[in-house]
Amino acid sequence: VSAASPFLPAERDLASLAQAAQGCRACPLHERATRTVFGEGPVGARMMLVGEQPGDTEDREGKPFIGPAGQLLDEVLAGVGLKREELYVTNAVKHFGWTGDEKQRLHAKPGRREVLACKAWLDAEVAQVKPKMIVCLGATAAQSFLGPGFRINLSRGQIFETPWAKAWMATFHPSALLRMPDERARVQARVHFEEDLRKAVAIVR
Ligand code: URA
Ligand code: SF4
Repeated sequence: VSAASPFLPAERDLASLAQAAQGCRACPLHERATRTVFGEGPVGARMMLVGEQPGDTEDREGKPFIGPAGQLLDEVLAGVGLKREELYVTNAVKHFGWTGDEKQRLHAKPGRREVLACKAWLDAEVAQVKPKMIVCLGATAAQSFLGPGFRINLSRGQIFETPWAKAWMATFHPSALLRMPDERARVQARVHFEEDLRKAVAIVR
């Protein structure tokens, strides 16, 4: 069982979950983060996007995917005809993990322990939203569902039937597209990312 389970409220609607998650202390990440960044979107959203964890901007503002990665995501979503308001957008881990000092807070990837600790929140969101399609952005989100053996490079863009959603897919994380130093690789990855999202759109439409 996930370490966050004891922090889950009796009422499982999204508003109660989001409020209770503000008090989660199930792993050490809450100590250095400003606030819990819970998922956002309508109950009954047909598609759920799951990222890794909030970044610096999200930690300050309290909303998922609103920093540089979120801007790229919005651009690609618009390109494939998806509106952010029709999606449920969340993260595998709800607190920002970082190293360095207050002047420069450097993103630190969550470990397996934090991902497992936080899974109860993600499971509760899935149980409420009941998406037809889950799209995982990056390996951390994918591995939260399917375990540490999951490899984006091997299985990106493939549709799986899972207990969480009838259709489940993992693709690149938008931050990975921003970070790739080699321009050709970056352009190619962006093309694949858009293809994957188009495939997901075709499933939910
Ligand atoms: N990266 C993520 O994985 N999630 C966010 O919300 C922002 C950046
Ligand atoms: Fe709880 Fe998740 Fe925050 Fe850890 S990262 S304290 S499990 S909400």
